Amino acid sequence: MKIEPASAAVGANISDVDLANISNAEVAKLTEAWARHGVLFFRDQHLSPEQHIAFAERFADIDVNQFFQPVADYPQIAEVRKEADQIVNIGGGWHTDHSYDQIPAKGSILLAREVPPTGGDTRFASVAAAYNELSDGLKKTLESLHAHHSNEHVFGAGTEHKEAAGERFVNPEAVGGAIHPVVIRHPNTGEKLLYVNAAFTTHFVGWTPEESRPLLDFLLEHTAQDRFSTQFQWEPGSIAMWDNRSTWHWALNDYHGHRRLMHRITIAGEPLTAA
Ligand code: OGA
Ligand code: MN
Repeated sequence: MKIEPASAAVGANISDVDLANISNAEVAKLTEAWARHGVLFFRDQHLSPEQHIAFAERFADIDVNQFFQPVADYPQIAEVRKEADQIVNIGGGWHTDHSYDQIPAKGSILLAREVPPTGGDTRFASVAAAYNELSDGLKKTLESLHAHHSNEHVFGAGTEHKEAAGERFVNPEAVGGAIHPVVIRHPNTGEKLLYVNAAFTTHFVGWTPEESRPLLDFLLEHTAQDRFSTQFQWEPGSIAMWDNRSTWHWALNDYHGHRRLMHRITIAGEPLTAA
């Protein structure tokens, strides 16, 4: 198995491995690489749904997403679909999955089934690299803060976003939120990570949303800089496996008129710890 960095800050390309037939030693190597690089990219892994589930379960239990339409007969697999006549995509802004949960998911394993002829790439950013470059003064302030995360404005009944997403989102009554430290420690590497994101972080604890906005916007713009990120171009059978604590991701929406279909399995995490 070969592991090569995909960019200066985040991601690694993994080759010479067959994820349908993987040894315990390879699982251990991938676990280490996943924590170190934040997101792992694979090519030509045409896993069946059963093989996709079995691969995910080598790392942790599956955390079933409550809002995405599941793949028929496989409730563990969420469908990430955009049809040729749909305009809004899923994940079309910088975010991390499930930060609205009390114990957010460890990561997600996304497998490309159908991709558009061009476009439809996904970007990934390192919130470890972004945090490192902040000033000591701001780091100290951020380490004293907690933030509210919510999914109501995304998956709740009657939001504009939900209408545009149509039947791709289900279960609006399951909406909720959580409070997390703004700076957390990675459970494996001990690195400090900036834990806010554009999709789900609403405000800092003890601050109003209006007071929170300028600082949140600064952190979002800072982390979105190109030098902290990489871009992955999909082919059918490509897999990206990302860490939801140490990275953000963003599905580019530049392929109107074409279908894009991905299968996502999300893996259960452990309680977050403050830095
Ligand atoms: C997701 C997501 C990105 C993509 O599945 O969580 O954000 O490129 N998808 O489809
Ligand atoms: Mn996502």
